[in-house]
Amino acid sequence: MAVEDVRFEVATSTGTLSILSGVSLKVEASQVVAIVGPSGSGKTSLLMLLAGLEQPTSGSIKVTGQQLNDLTENQLALFRRRNVGIVFQSFHLIPSLSALDNVALALEIASPGQSLADCRTAAAAALTSVGLGDRLSHRPSALSGGEQQRVGLARAMIAEPKLVLADEPTGNLDQATGAVVIELMFDLARRRGTAVVLVTHDPGLAARADRVFAMERGVLTETTGKSS
Ligand SMILES: Nc1ncnc2c1ncn2[C@@H]1O[C@H](COP(=O)(O)OP(=O)(O)O)[C@@H](O)[C@H]1O
Ligand SMILES: [Mg+2]
Repeated sequence: MAVEDVRFEVATSTGTLSILSGVSLKVEASQVVAIVGPSGSGKTSLLMLLAGLEQPTSGSIKVTGQQLNDLTENQLALFRRRNVGIVFQSFHLIPSLSALDNVALALEIASPGQSLADCRTAAAAALTSVGLGDRLSHRPSALSGGEQQRVGLARAMIAEPKLVLADEPTGNLDQATGAVVIELMFDLARRRGTAVVLVTHDPGLAARADRVFAMERGVLTETTGKSS
């Protein structure tokens, strides 16, 4: 995944607002990159651009060698389904579906050729790998926050995306539970060669990443190796 000199500006009633000013970032397969920074600094905006959910004002974004600027809306949607997994702060599970079906549905959407039975078998294996093999039929409301986020993780990884984007995935969890979820994410990334971009408020979690960046007013700076 490579971001080169990306600017992101939006038009507002009071004029043009610059959200990202010349961001560059390269993430290799199996690498976990953490981004920290104050609220409003542009972290979520960068993830939206990486997911192809927003278009940069200038600069280039390549994911798995594909230049996102070259894709139409429909191609972007397809690209996202096949290549990108997203983990949200507030889980975003479907409340009426079991843990199993939340994950199976994500796989069915990503690979429409697969039978529902195959998707459910794969979902059960994915949930087992995050320690939820005995929670398959639970609905989200019957799961703890940490368990819900592990379902979110299984859902994001089930289609084996090349890139996983996590926006403060531990923001609604206590620190110990958050650490478990992050460890699982690192483990899955390394075993499957997934590149991960993780936004977090927790410097302790960020320090576990391969590289750490700070976002400040739309400017991204690497802080890896520098003591804080
Ligand atoms: N579509 C938009 N229109 C106007 N302002 C936006 C838009 N998206 C983000 N912003 C603004 O850009 C800044 C960065 O937002 P965001 O990327 O969500 O920051 P962070 O995730 O670091 O808290 C904020 O000031 C936010 O209000
Ligand atoms: Mg944010």
